Amino acid sequence: MSLLLLLLAAYLLGSIPFAIVTSKLFGLQDPRRYGSGNPGATNVLRSGNKAAAALTLLGDSLKGWLAVWVAGELGFGIGEAALAGLAAFLGHVFTVFLRFNGGKGVATALGVLAGVDGRIAIFCAVIWLMIAYTSRYSSVAALSAAVAAPLAGLLFLGPQPAVAALAVMAAVLIWRHKTNLARLRAGTEGKIGGGKS
Ligand code: G3P
Repeated sequence: MSLLLLLLAAYLLGSIPFAIVTSKLFGLQDPRRYGSGNPGATNVLRSGNKAAAALTLLGDSLKGWLAVWVAGELGFGIGEAALAGLAAFLGHVFTVFLRFNGGKGVATALGVLAGVDGRIAIFCAVIWLMIAYTSRYSSVAALSAAVAAPLAGLLFLGPQPAVAALAVMAAVLIWRHKTNLARLRAGTEGKIGGGKS
């Protein structure tokens, strides 16, 4: 398979919006219509349905991991595999199935990190959990983990193209949280497990 075809397949895989799929499965309202309006696990949790939120997290993470794993199985090196992960992440954020207006990419990014190097994923997941536990803000936890991701990449893999892909992913993820940053400044950001309003 050519690299271009791999990236296209990864983009399409990443484009599957599991928040919308699971919400439909559970008969829930479209997550774009409540809470932050984000089609992601945190917002699905605001519906009160923990199983739907967990399934969203699992599906969105798995597609990121799968893109990297398949690339490796096809014989691509770690740099190209990370690029496939980045393509899946961009698919989630700019999904072709929701008029290029997808989620913020946190779960998919975690899956990509797990595919590239489990140590980076664990490092970032621990940061996410610590910040989420202390602040109760999913966005602050995600932003902290995003800053940590390329640094952890450098620490565990050294300077190489795969780390550059992780840095691009982190930059897009931070940019996608601009409305969260505005809400944090205004003191109106919703907390984890908060209601739909
Ligand atoms: O996973 C996205 C999270 O960082 C923010 O979600 O719904 O609070 O905008 P949300």
